[in-house]
Amino acid sequence: MRSLRTNLLNPISSQKTDLLPDHVITWDNGIITSVEPYNPALHRDCEDHRNAICSPGFIDIHVHLSQFRIRGNYRPALLPWLQEVVFPEEARSSDFSYARQLAQDFFSALLKAGTTTAVIYTAPFRKATEIAFEIAHRLGFRALIGMTLMDRNSPSDLLQSTAGAYETSLDLFDTWHGKSPLLDYIFTPRFAPTCSPELMRLIGDFASSRSAWIQTHLAENPDELRWVREIFGLESYTAVYEKFGLLGPHSILAHAIHLSDDEIRLMADSDSRIAHCPDSNFYLKSGEFPLSRLKAAGLKIALGSDVGAGSSLSMPHHAQMMNYRQSLEPVLPEEAFYNMTLGAARALDLGSVTGSLQPGKSADLILLKSPDHSPIDEHSLSRLVFYGSEYTVSETVIAGKSVKN
Ligand code: GUN
Ligand code: ZN
Repeated sequence: MRSLRTNLLNPISSQKTDLLPDHVITWDNGIITSVEPYNPALHRDCEDHRNAICSPGFIDIHVHLSQFRIRGNYRPALLPWLQEVVFPEEARSSDFSYARQLAQDFFSALLKAGTTTAVIYTAPFRKATEIAFEIAHRLGFRALIGMTLMDRNSPSDLLQSTAGAYETSLDLFDTWHGKSPLLDYIFTPRFAPTCSPELMRLIGDFASSRSAWIQTHLAENPDELRWVREIFGLESYTAVYEKFGLLGPHSILAHAIHLSDDEIRLMADSDSRIAHCPDSNFYLKSGEFPLSRLKAAGLKIALGSDVGAGSSLSMPHHAQMMNYRQSLEPVLPEEAFYNMTLGAARALDLGSVTGSLQPGKSADLILLKSPDHSPIDEHSLSRLVFYGSEYTVSETVIAGKSVKN
């Protein structure tokens, strides 16, 4: 059991975050048991963290482990960046020792950034994916992890056979689904241009039969859209995923920028989840995320760093970008914070488990120290959103266990 006397930021909704100065949060066996105002008569043995802010651990719903070392290796658009930067780097993860060092560096950087839950793409290799799971398991990290699938239009050192891609995914699912309460497998067809209709259909059918998670990229860049139209000839990119069974309440679609109203309706009718990656979208000049249209359709949206097109694993950085990169619409701090905490947990159907500091939920939380000793006041949330990437994460706790000091 641990009790911390500290200052809590607790998300309630996309419009409301509670600031609870000088409160005590207690957990036992990994579960939060109470959050209450400090009372000297009751809380004699608590640890003193009054100089910190306690937040739910951050959630990153779209990040590529295999691209951690190529952040900032610039090309001015998605397709040349994939061909010239991403694919050669992902091929390096066929070497086990490369993949292991990369995964260790990646998870340690996530913990240092205060991320306690992540939805992760690995390189298209079984062993690299197993290494990622093993390290996450050993650390006690909460994650959905999937092996990226590419069975056509891909360089030969990444290209998988359709049967091999499918069967390896099933093996990984069988091994990791249900093995640990913190980990799950997520089927990961990279995007329509590098996946055959057969592979997408197999993944879609299996995932829907087991309510398994799927992640992919959608409508990020105009050249990508032209490529999809050339290959599939369907009226829209989203219609391709619908046809092969890749939409649904366990599907996470990243980017979702260039969309017609009909496509937004398809996504909303299927209750698909959206990973918003504002930093990446502007790095690759992919376009501006249609935030108000997707919100109006009732879609569940959460933030993704999209490292390596995103430059940082710090989720406050992406919250800041969520505001900066809407050219007409102010995004309030409460909404940006919600999208990397409780809203993200809800997008992953983990809203009863993590994402806020509520008794009964897992103790997934972090202690943050501002670089300027700013006071705890009504601006604390806003400051965290606009320059939180400068804050130090002094402790990261997942399921009650301190995983970084
Ligand atoms: N589309 C297909 N693969 C990728 C990727 O790795 N990153 C981004 N940003 N978009 C993609
Ligand atoms: Zn991505």
